[in-house]
Amino acid sequence: MSALWLRTRVLGALVVLHIVGSWTPGMSLPQGAPETVCDTMLPFHGGGILPANSVSPFSIETSTSVIGQGQTLRVDVTGVPTGLSFGGFMIQARNRNPPYQIIGQFGPSRDGTVKLMNCENSVNNSATHSNAGAKSQVSLEWESPVDFMGQVVFNATVAQSYTDFWVGVPSNPVQVVRRDVAPPSVASAPTSGGYNPTTRQPYVPPSYVAPNVVATVADPFYNNCGVSKTCFGFPNGCMATKSCTSLSAVTVRGDIYEFELQSGKGTNAAYVAVGLSEDAKMGDDFTIECVPENGRVSMYSSYTSGSPYGVSRAGVPQNTARLVEASVVDGVIYCKVQRDPVTVVQGRTFDLRNNMYHLLVASGTGLKENGVGYHDIGRLPSGSPINLAVVQELGGSSMLLVRLHGAFMIVAWIGTTSLGIIFARYFKQTWVGSQTCGKDQWFAWHRMLMVTTWSLTVVAYILIWVELKRAVWHAHAVTGLITVILCFLQPIGALFRPGPNDKKRPYFNWGHWLGGNLAHILSIVTIFFSVKLPKAELPEWMDWILVGFVVVHVLVHLIFSICLCINHWQVGGIASDRQQTQRINTFQMGDISHHHQHAMRNGMSMERKMDAPYGALRKGLLSVYSVILVLFVVALILIVVLAPIEEFFKSSP
Ligand SMILES: *[C@@H]1O[C@H](CO)[C@@H](O)[C@H](O)[C@H]1NC(C)=O
Ligand SMILES: *[C@@H]1O[C@H](CO)[C@@H](O)[C@H](O)[C@H]1NC(C)=O
Repeated sequence: MSALWLRTRVLGALVVLHIVGSWTPGMSLPQGAPETVCDTMLPFHGGGILPANSVSPFSIETSTSVIGQGQTLRVDVTGVPTGLSFGGFMIQARNRNPPYQIIGQFGPSRDGTVKLMNCENSVNNSATHSNAGAKSQVSLEWESPVDFMGQVVFNATVAQSYTDFWVGVPSNPVQVVRRDVAPPSVASAPTSGGYNPTTRQPYVPPSYVAPNVVATVADPFYNNCGVSKTCFGFPNGCMATKSCTSLSAVTVRGDIYEFELQSGKGTNAAYVAVGLSEDAKMGDDFTIECVPENGRVSMYSSYTSGSPYGVSRAGVPQNTARLVEASVVDGVIYCKVQRDPVTVVQGRTFDLRNNMYHLLVASGTGLKENGVGYHDIGRLPSGSPINLAVVQELGGSSMLLVRLHGAFMIVAWIGTTSLGIIFARYFKQTWVGSQTCGKDQWFAWHRMLMVTTWSLTVVAYILIWVELKRAVWHAHAVTGLITVILCFLQPIGALFRPGPNDKKRPYFNWGHWLGGNLAHILSIVTIFFSVKLPKAELPEWMDWILVGFVVVHVLVHLIFSICLCINHWQVGGIASDRQQTQRINTFQMGDISHHHQHAMRNGMSMERKMDAPYGALRKGLLSVYSVILVLFVVALILIVVLAPIEEFFKSSP
């Protein structure tokens, strides 16, 4: 009686064994390990007896290395390669990754040689011997749970004798995959009568195959993408190659909106998130994120803010979505979440039934106090908003054409146009006599710069049409269209300009001046409007750079104009009033090239061969202005091309 009582006690057990040991010499605990050893798996073989630290002569073998959820495999505890027999054992399957919890369930043994244990409050998840008789092999059936995906390792303690035992004898890893991709359950039922050592092949230590198997078994996440679920992930185009760094899927069944999320292998993701966005831009998006923490995957709802960029759970109802399934396998986070069709977050209604949303996938390696950290692994909004219930193939929004459009337009309208106008307005009396390709210097430059403007504008305009594929009517589009039309007509007008002495020539001069300047002003307005466009993802402080450009441009015009006035004033001192007036007209509007040649032919106005005064000053100012223009253009192009630039700087350490 006292022996029975003692046996139930942790420390008592070893005392009993000292006594009982005499009638079961060299044997293990006669009735298997007590449940107090669930964690340590140390047999209570007398105080102070340590497990052997030699390589275990026993091994744990599984009938398969890939198993579907809810399927059964056979596990053998065996001393076959060494021919040793053993008396006791204890075995359990554990998650190979944190939190290393005990996984699955053992089936009842047919011959009564196995006793099942309930560890960590779960039934039959560990097994031990039911008697300590010598055996060379024990076969067990183990069933994987339906809600786990990942690698498990069977971990056993095997006792050869009372003093010789090995703890932590591992099996090779077994991959538990979703059932639809698992090979048919290989060894559910061990043959009756169990295992026959004589027919067994010589023991060959199985090579570690799990990762290869995982690599060749296609990721089940991609199954049914575009068939029964809409999948979306990044980098763009990864769906085709099934190589997404992060991906999401939406399945809609009636009023059930189910989102699946998965982080990429080897990305070290601390979270993976999917957001619903009205504008493909960060800010005012309702997101769900799956975050492994404290040994399990948690799911949260968050809301993003646009400026400053941020995401927080504060004030976001957490009861509008439910986590249905989750796992972390080899660092790959997977979760399945069901979400209410209608949610009100921060005054904004997200109605999945009636509204269209961009999907936004993001993942990152860091977490913050009340939300997730910066999406440094990546993020991608879908190119178009979708009705979630319509299964489709979804591409990411490609910013390439938008960025090129922006960059080209900036070169054209901040860069070449500004300079081209300066040449035409203030340099007709500079480099006089020196010609390029038979044209005056100023004209050669003006034409070269403006042809560049024209070409870039036409190309940029075509690019944005290719991207949008439809007309849009916001402010940027309207002023932009007028600019493009004016720009397009300018060289055509110039082609048909009347001769230098034609009566209609002044009309052309005025028209050309007006068209050019109007286009330039409208283009700057259009660029200001672009800052407000969600798709462009430009920072609001870009306005200040544009204002800076306008100020510099106006200042330069002022200085040049003052030079011109002083010039006129001085020239006016020696010339008659009539000549002066004529000259002003000529300076501002005239086509000096032709006028000049005409004058030369008539042997008049020899003074025009000379540069107007202050040529050096004008050239100096022009150089300075050119450098400043280049800086403006480079800065603005960087903002456009790296948009959203705040995130670019956040992501670079
Ligand atoms: C646990 O195993 C015992 C046999 O050892 C069996 O009777 C029982 O039904 C099992 N429990 C579950 C939940 O499978
Ligand atoms: C097996 O279990 C022992 C005891 O709990 C533990 O120390 C060891 O790390 C485990 N090994 C594996 C591969 O899980």
